[in-house]
Amino acid sequence: MAQLFTPFTLKSITLKNRIGIPPMCQYSAAEDGVANNWHKQHYAELARGGAGLVVVEATAASPEGRISPNDLGLWNDEQAAELAKVATLIKDNGSVAGIQIAHAGRKASANRPWEGDDHLTEDDPRGWDTIAPSAIAFGANLPKTPKAMTQSDIDRVQQDFVAAAQRALDAGFEWLELHFAHGYLAQSFFNRDANQRTDEYGGSKEGRAKFLLDTLKAVREVWPEELPLTARFGVIEYDGRDEETLAESIWLAQQFKAHGLDFLSVSFGFSTPNVDIPWGPSMLAQTAEKVRRESGLPIASAWGFDQPQDAERAILEGQMDQVLIGRAYLANPRYTYQLAKALELDDASWVLPAPYAHWIGRY
Ligand SMILES: Cc1cc2nc3c(=O)[nH]c(=O)nc-3n(C[C@H](O)[C@H](O)[C@H](O)COP(=O)(O)O)c2cc1C
Repeated sequence: MAQLFTPFTLKSITLKNRIGIPPMCQYSAAEDGVANNWHKQHYAELARGGAGLVVVEATAASPEGRISPNDLGLWNDEQAAELAKVATLIKDNGSVAGIQIAHAGRKASANRPWEGDDHLTEDDPRGWDTIAPSAIAFGANLPKTPKAMTQSDIDRVQQDFVAAAQRALDAGFEWLELHFAHGYLAQSFFNRDANQRTDEYGGSKEGRAKFLLDTLKAVREVWPEELPLTARFGVIEYDGRDEETLAESIWLAQQFKAHGLDFLSVSFGFSTPNVDIPWGPSMLAQTAEKVRRESGLPIASAWGFDQPQDAERAILEGQMDQVLIGRAYLANPRYTYQLAKALELDDASWVLPAPYAHWIGRY
């Protein structure tokens, strides 16, 4: 049998296969950050399609942590109540329900990708002031200069992450992902250019790691030991300093493990607009394998693993424990069936619910 279709157990959770659908922002909430029918239908469809894990999109721990005014949030009980329905829909349709909790830092207060993907202008009433480790703008399409966070800002954001984690747990999610990637708040604390602080949160790699590790430790206190606590982290930037960045990232992954992280989703940093990413199939496979081997953490990775043989190879060759496939599932929520067919899985009922699987191959 294809390795992609073998189960994977982490703590008390068993995923029915090695396919995970990674968080993908829908930018489809009203300005209250509450999940609506769009989200319910979307996540139910993804779960019904047969992936072992469905991770709900970046969900902001606080209002200023949203990327756009239309992001989901998890800073109040109304948001938690609607997300509980999303979690139930994912589970009722056969997947494990995960959620990514996030703070966008200096990349917050932006238009939706299809409305410009740039910072909201100063005179836009939907916009807000952004915060970051240092008062340094991302640049390019995101020129707004953030406020450098004070100690009380840091304490407050960490408490927001803890409160969001507690709400996610109460809402029925069983897999928590901390968004430490993609140039958002946590990633920018670790990035040498974005973080120019001279206090204990800056300077050496130990200083730049402090915000991430303190946040992880604080969340671990409320997230049950038997449930997977995971993070997504950008281990490489493609900014011309990749050897140094990857070495620091592997050190940080080892620290994550020592501080109670159960699983790491390996991604890009996206900390600066000045990068030259060599896009292509399976592009993070070797990097993920190195992080897996040197950190001792179970690993997932995304970006270009949607072709059946590429996904299968990533598991078969031990590059990662789970393959994340995003856009192919946006285009076709039953994409698991295509994978199963290409990899010659003989019993589709193992992948899809009976009302669909029964008919496949008949007539
Ligand atoms: C519409 C869209 C929204 C995304 N939103 C998020 C997000 O909320 N959090 C995150 O970590 N990555 C996000 N990503 C990145 C995806 O999780 C994934 O890594 C990416 O799509 C690459 O995988 P693929 O080549 O299989 O699509 C998003 C990607 C897309 C296309």
